Amino acid sequence: MPTCCGADAYAKLFDEKNAKKDLRRYLKSGLDATGRRIVDAIINRGVVGTTVLEVGGGIGAIQVELLRAGALRATNVEIVDTYESAAGHLLATVGLAERVDRKVLDFAESGPEIAGADVVVLHRVICCYPDMEALVRAATTHAGRLLALSFPPDRWWWRIGARLATAWFQIRGCGFRIYTHDPRRILAAAASAGFRPVLEHRGLTWQVAVLERSAS
Ligand SMILES: C[S@@+](CC[C@H](N)C(=O)[O-])C[C@H]1O[C@@H](n2cnc3c(N)ncnc32)[C@H](O)[C@@H]1O
Repeated sequence: MPTCCGADAYAKLFDEKNAKKDLRRYLKSGLDATGRRIVDAIINRGVVGTTVLEVGGGIGAIQVELLRAGALRATNVEIVDTYESAAGHLLATVGLAERVDRKVLDFAESGPEIAGADVVVLHRVICCYPDMEALVRAATTHAGRLLALSFPPDRWWWRIGARLATAWFQIRGCGFRIYTHDPRRILAAAASAGFRPVLEHRGLTWQVAVLERSAS
């Protein structure tokens, strides 16, 4: 578990109520704009016949979209079990339960227990974990071809917002905190493992990088 807070801190914030809300929102409106950007970029690079590993995928909306677009199978890794009921409901609703394997563990620590995949996705996950290098290293080790990341851009409102949110969590007795890891360090960690960007988008709230493993 991360040294600053255990899985219970994650479960407090990402609880079953939050998971049900995510499920209702997705069934009503589909993916948010950042999730859509990630999915479209992966589809554009070729998703048919691939395997997908989504880390911190929550209810698993991104993998559902990739499976519908032609991916063969997906694995979802979550540090908490609070999404499992809503995720099961989603998979039953869209008829994809047979093609998704869901695991509950800390991917940065227990990554070796998980098989690699052609496409690895971490959407809004790196900002929830203290050891960015370990998480990105585990992701690059598992990604056969594509690695899709979204994380906070280096913008002043994110830095202030993250501090305020962390103070609010502390007041409420929740050990969770938000990490504004330097985007250049995130991309450097991926580059050092041989991944080069094929799409980079720096939005107001989220930065997206889709990277491809260089042929070497
Ligand atoms: C902000 S939520 C994003 C959920 C989903 N990707 C989305 O965008 O709706 C971050 C998620 O990452 C998960 N997470 C954080 N660190 C993790 C780790 N080391 N291993 C697995 N899951 C992790 C948390 O449990 C949480 O569900």
